[in-house]
Amino acid sequence: MDMMEVIRSRHSVRRFKDEPLESGAVSLLKSEIDACNKESGLHIQLITDEPEAFQAGRTGYGQFKGCRNYLVVAGPRGRDEDAGYYGERVVLKAQELGINSCWVALTYKKSKAQGETSEGEKRYLVVALGYGETSGSPHRSKSLSAVSDYKAGDPQWYRDGLEAALLAPTAVNQQRFYFSRDGEKVTAKVSGLGFYTKIDLGIVKYHFEIGSGRGNEVWV
Ligand SMILES: Cc1cc2nc3c(=O)[nH]c(=O)nc-3n(C[C@H](O)[C@H](O)[C@H](O)COP(=O)(O)O)c2cc1C
Repeated sequence: MDMMEVIRSRHSVRRFKDEPLESGAVSLLKSEIDACNKESGLHIQLITDEPEAFQAGRTGYGQFKGCRNYLVVAGPRGRDEDAGYYGERVVLKAQELGINSCWVALTYKKSKAQGETSEGEKRYLVVALGYGETSGSPHRSKSLSAVSDYKAGDPQWYRDGLEAALLAPTAVNQQRFYFSRDGEKVTAKVSGLGFYTKIDLGIVKYHFEIGSGRGNEVWV
């Protein structure tokens, strides 16, 4: 499937149907997780049929319904950006397989969530997974000029990368990232303040790589 289509169709979903993940989709998702862990040294895990981490009982932002599956994004400490980058790679694979998702740093039951962390590792956050009651809706987005040095006449690949980055999930939709370009090379930064900005940075960099079509060669 065209990965830009996958990016456009992904929105956070917090209300899920009472249906288990299809076994074929689970094995494809596991292969992607294994590939990500091998490449990165992270310890991403898929937990299925486990209702405790997302029990109802909250109101307002971050309330979940019917979530019984989730990714645990864990790994060695100090790897926040990679946690975002590889976590989003698994999220987009899930989306491609028809599985909706929502990154969740705060609004889950941390003490109930399963998954292992080895010595020196931490659980960064989790990602709720399942078949959504709806497929979600687009988030409000900043403009290209608010998140980059883009100007008229810049290369199309740069614009395409930025547009894919603007479609990325970020914590509380903060979009606190900034891209700048020097010829063929690009720098992406996040402002130090704000929740989970390094995780966000990894997520938006993965989107940029796909949107620009230039992979990870593009970074300074
Ligand atoms: C690092 C991170 C942490 C997040 N934590 C939560 C959370 O605790 N609870 C929640 O409901 N959504 C959480 N979200 C989802 C964001 O609110 C959501 O991605 C954002 O509003 C943009 O919407 P979209 O994903 O539909 O594009 C988180 C997203 C990211 C990237």
